[in-house]
Amino acid sequence: MEKNLKALVDKLETRHTLLRDEWISLIRWRTPLLSDYVFQKARAVRQHFYGKDVYIRGLIEFTNYCKNDCYYCGIRRSNPKAHRYRLSKEQILNCCTDGYELGFRTFVLQGGEDGYFTDERMVDLVKTIRQEFPDCAITLSIGERSYDSYKALFEAGADRYLLRHETWDAEHYSRLHPPQLSASDRQQCLWNLKEIGYQVGTGYMVGSPWQTPENLADDMLFLEKLNPQMVGIGPFIPHCNTPLKDHPAGTLELTLYLLGLIRLLLPKVLLPATTALGTIDPRGRELGILAGANVVMPNLSPVNVRKDYLLYDNKICTGSEAAECREDLENRMRAIGYQVVTHRGDSLNTNQERERNNRYV
Ligand code: 5AD
Repeated sequence: MEKNLKALVDKLETRHTLLRDEWISLIRWRTPLLSDYVFQKARAVRQHFYGKDVYIRGLIEFTNYCKNDCYYCGIRRSNPKAHRYRLSKEQILNCCTDGYELGFRTFVLQGGEDGYFTDERMVDLVKTIRQEFPDCAITLSIGERSYDSYKALFEAGADRYLLRHETWDAEHYSRLHPPQLSASDRQQCLWNLKEIGYQVGTGYMVGSPWQTPENLADDMLFLEKLNPQMVGIGPFIPHCNTPLKDHPAGTLELTLYLLGLIRLLLPKVLLPATTALGTIDPRGRELGILAGANVVMPNLSPVNVRKDYLLYDNKICTGSEAAECREDLENRMRAIGYQVVTHRGDSLNTNQERERNNRYV
């Protein structure tokens, strides 16, 4: 194994920082041997903070209407073939009730940027969930909104917010998104969310079209600066009704490697083994856990709408990612020496650390 690269992994492990050129080398010149070295260390770090616990979050995909037109996404506005749905408040609350009985203590409300869900409707929804499930964490994942909107939702009882930065580089961002959307707006939303006090999750797609090792290095520098509580990464997977349909999918290999590096960069971060990872490989999520991930997010949406929340082709939606198959998920995790736990699974990042980060704003 290349000695210099190994030394970079050691530096990352002890100092939790690398220079841009160092990131580029680590990513560009990786080998299977070096990956194993990273995974070993990542597992040790993860075990130190989280033992063999795997946290679960119940994902409720409550609307697939979206005003945006991201070139990679299957629920983009211009996909006329997407069969649109929107869950009612009652349906969403039923998902939470079912999820609570299954042992979920975090609900992730994820949706497209759907104008129907005004601040008023969202605040009402969040308040109701907060009242009915006081011991649960409420996570929102509903895209870009104003500072005041984020603030109102936080005050209504939302604790966490997931918003992937997608790619840090403005030019790369503009190749994946229509001109109305920008990398800087996206990043500003994340700083706003932090300032308001949310626990924040960000992330990006691995192997998205035109992505370079330089882009991934910049993503790592951004993660270091933002210091989010969660980082969600998964392979890009083409969707047949999108402009990027002919681009190849990101690989399992690179996604796992980056998961390991992120664990070393942000030791206490919550790192999901994502649905996209489970989609490109039947053992993807197990391998993600073994590379340093510590969260899985099974689907709590009503079974009849799952087939419509298709961000990419072949998305798994009936297997063990389904909440009903919690037993199967537990068995899979047990088989690799891990156990699913049911508490809220708050990030170990302290408020103090969060405050320190807010000074970047
Ligand atoms: N492949 C993989 N991930 C995708 N996402 C959207 N479209 C795709 C795709 N084709 C991811 C984006 C978004 C998250 C909800 O899903 O990163 O932020």
